[in-house]
Amino acid sequence: MIRQDRELLARLSSVNTRLGEAVVELLHRQDGGLLPAEGLRALGHHLQGITADLLNRADELDAVVIDRPPSREVTSRWPPTATGGESMNTVPTSPEPDDELALRYLRQAESAAGTAPDAEPRDVGRIGVVGAGTMGAGIATVFLQAGFPVTVVEQSVEALERGVERISAIQDKAVARGKADRAEADRRLAALTAGTDQASLGDCDVVVEAVFEDMEVKKALLSRLATIVKPGAVLASNTSYLDLDELAEASGRPRDVVGLHFFSPAHVMRLLEVVRGAKTGEDTLATALWLGRKTGKLPVVAGVCDGFIGNRVYNAYRVQCEFMVEEGALPEEIDAALEGFGFAMGPFTVWDMSGLDIAKATRQRQAATRDPRERMPKVLDVLYERGRLGRKTGAGWYAYPDDGERQVDPAVHEVIRAVVERNGVEPRTLSPDEIVRRALGVIVNEAMLVLADGIAERASDIDLVLANGYGFPKKRGGPLFWAHDHRDQVTTGIDEAERATGFGFRRGRLPW
Ligand SMILES: NC(=O)c1ccc[n+]([C@@H]2O[C@H](COP(=O)([O-])OP(=O)(O)OC[C@H]3O[C@@H](n4cnc5c(N)ncnc54)[C@H](O)[C@@H]3O)[C@@H](O)[C@H]2O)c1
Repeated sequence: MIRQDRELLARLSSVNTRLGEAVVELLHRQDGGLLPAEGLRALGHHLQGITADLLNRADELDAVVIDRPPSREVTSRWPPTATGGESMNTVPTSPEPDDELALRYLRQAESAAGTAPDAEPRDVGRIGVVGAGTMGAGIATVFLQAGFPVTVVEQSVEALERGVERISAIQDKAVARGKADRAEADRRLAALTAGTDQASLGDCDVVVEAVFEDMEVKKALLSRLATIVKPGAVLASNTSYLDLDELAEASGRPRDVVGLHFFSPAHVMRLLEVVRGAKTGEDTLATALWLGRKTGKLPVVAGVCDGFIGNRVYNAYRVQCEFMVEEGALPEEIDAALEGFGFAMGPFTVWDMSGLDIAKATRQRQAATRDPRERMPKVLDVLYERGRLGRKTGAGWYAYPDDGERQVDPAVHEVIRAVVERNGVEPRTLSPDEIVRRALGVIVNEAMLVLADGIAERASDIDLVLANGYGFPKKRGGPLFWAHDHRDQVTTGIDEAERATGFGFRRGRLPW
């Protein structure tokens, strides 16, 4: 399908060329005074024909984009046939396992992802990182390990010391694990400059901000950075959800602004969402993609929306899982069903790791624009009010006594029971099949919306994001690849999710 897309694009571009040629011809004739009404009319018809052709091709391309996964060449099965139509295999060959097909699809998806625009990347020497917390320390490490000199800036000496300690600890671990020798680790650390004065970022060619996820904090920082950082330097934000266009406007130099959404831990996770704002310059985007590849990441381009590709799809999935909790399924049952499907971790376990406070803050921020008729799950609010923020507080959807393994917590069951009662719902048992069907239905639905809204360039990009950043089982290729062979399950799952969600549920257009 990827090849098919290229062919379509090539045809589209050839029609475009013909259109251009016709316009040039028109101008020539006008110049030479050779254009009587008749000739003009003939040319007009000619142009109309080309325009219709162009629109048809665009529709065709649209259909292919919607109908993308899985690609035939990705899923084509063994064995090939020898010339003359006879199989060369005298011994019957069993088909390749589906896992291998899915993995091959993901490899092809990787080579198609993050293709640079037709622009030269800007020169990059020194890189700045603002904020050396969890993400900033990891991001600084990514660049140090790729051989760039890095300047890290924090807001206080104490925070800076903690940040530098984090960066050193990552190198120590790399040495302890045999991933780097001491001399190499020391070379990397010697390329680090750390301070609290933002003016030291003046000679950086790229500055990545990884400060608190707060619109006002980030806007103030970007507008200040724009006055410090030299013209032509790229200003990147590691925001997880915030409106990159608003941040770009605040900087006053939106062409230079791009999102570099690293995943945690940044020096380990390969996935990198490169967020293209409405005014991001082509060369800025090209620089971001070049940096992504140079640092060994898997860059996937995303458009601006709440949560970009990954967090947007994952949030829709999590909310649906919370609805299932409010119908009678316990968090551990949902986690077990989805881990049974192949997710590295169920959604509630992931939640406890990343912290319930982030979801709470996001929901509070969204509340201002949310239609009050939309259903919002309530259990998380109660857990949050009780200080159960996840692993870091020793309790969230599960309990973690002595900082150990997750344990089912009767106190959470009590909270759920109270919410279910308040909602006036008769709790019921949800089978693992129903849980998986609904969860996957919502993931596929949101993925199709992401595609339709132009947030992802191609379906396989969404599969890459979910498989590389959100624990979706790689052996299943990604949700859209998987959906192709599970159409009834997906359609039923979406129907069920739509009934459960009620008002405001937006249905994506499925390719079947
Ligand atoms: N933690 C994750 O899993 C994760 C994943 C992807 C993206 N992100 C995003 O990365 C960003 C940082 O998140 P984090 O988890 O590292 O947060 P964090 O709280 O660990 O670190 C933020 C750091 O920024 C510093 N800081 C705040 N304002 C500053 C300023 N004006 N100048 C210099 N330093 C400043 C703070 O002192 C702190 O050390 C957020 O936008 C977040 O959404 C986080």
